[in-house]
Amino acid sequence: MKALVTATDGAYGIRLDAVTEPRPAPGQALVEVRAVAVNRGELGFLERLPPGSRLGWDVAGTVVRAADDGSGPAAGTRVVGLADRDGWAERVALDTSRLAKIPGGVEWAPAAALPVAGLTALNALRHAGRLLGRTVLITGAAGGVGRIAVQLAAAAGARVIAWVGSPERARGLAELGADVVDVYGARNTEPVDVLLDGCGGEVLAQGFQAVVPGGSVVCFGNSAGAELRLPADWGRARPGVSLYSLGLFDEITRHDVGRDLAFLLQMVTEDRIDPQVALVTDWSAPGEALLALKARTVAGKVVLTL
Ligand SMILES: NC(=O)c1ccc[n+]([C@@H]2O[C@H](COP(=O)([O-])OP(=O)(O)OC[C@H]3O[C@@H](n4cnc5c(N)ncnc54)[C@H](OP(=O)(O)O)[C@@H]3O)[C@@H](O)[C@H]2O)c1
Repeated sequence: MKALVTATDGAYGIRLDAVTEPRPAPGQALVEVRAVAVNRGELGFLERLPPGSRLGWDVAGTVVRAADDGSGPAAGTRVVGLADRDGWAERVALDTSRLAKIPGGVEWAPAAALPVAGLTALNALRHAGRLLGRTVLITGAAGGVGRIAVQLAAAAGARVIAWVGSPERARGLAELGADVVDVYGARNTEPVDVLLDGCGGEVLAQGFQAVVPGGSVVCFGNSAGAELRLPADWGRARPGVSLYSLGLFDEITRHDVGRDLAFLLQMVTEDRIDPQVALVTDWSAPGEALLALKARTVAGKVVLTL
């Protein structure tokens, strides 16, 4: 079968190549892939991994062989799931504990856009605690995780402040539920109970200044790749603030991923969240889409279809 693998000759160091067929373990379903999503974290892997390496966490497709241990959905079921960095392929073996049935009416692309972005946003907000009546500041709000986090926080009853890199990046965020949309550092923000940060560096430091004593800071990314410098009195000025570093593949060891995916899909079918697919392209020519994601010109998720 074919899969996207890292390469030195292809566009953005990636090309289709022949790889061995997956051999599902007893608790894995064999899935024929129809759409996969791209995450910023995968762009990093593309730049780091040696040629011939596999990629791909977000997968939507049809079960072609149910798991041998009897768990999970039957053959023919449309599913979305979280793969172990081998999902950008014609077929993949997915743990039945890490997939959910796609409800009728949800297309392949929005389903594929959900796992990493949706589960990261969901878990980050859970760590922030109760949100009803609280103010949540979300940085990198125009990105894949940010756009879902804005919607989930608003749905949970929070006042949402969205921070973006430029006025153009603000487009659409008010419609998703942001009460305030601001450019990083443009003006002093109101005090916030929760800071959800995917940017790191200077943006995280700015956001931290707005967090009230006893508030929560959840860091899930460092897109800026920069060090964090906080004022010397950061703790004394904000007693009780908690700081949590979230890693999705660590989180999922403690959560029911299938149930969380089903919850997110249910919210999609009820029009309570939109996975924000911004760019869909055929997987045979992903170069331009990947470059657009890197350049931050995509307003949401990039999805590759097979
Ligand atoms: N811990 C985990 O398990 C986990 C899971 C998912 C994602 N992540 C990380 O979380 C971050 C967000 O992921 P995503 O999929 O939402 O990415 P994305 O769609 O590319 O969004 C990233 C956002 O970060 C903002 N940003 C600020 N400074 C940036 C910089 N120097 N370079 C690039 N972007 C910058 C951009 O907003 P503006 O363009 O408006 O500035 C952009 O909207 C990434 O760093 C990703 O690796 C971590």
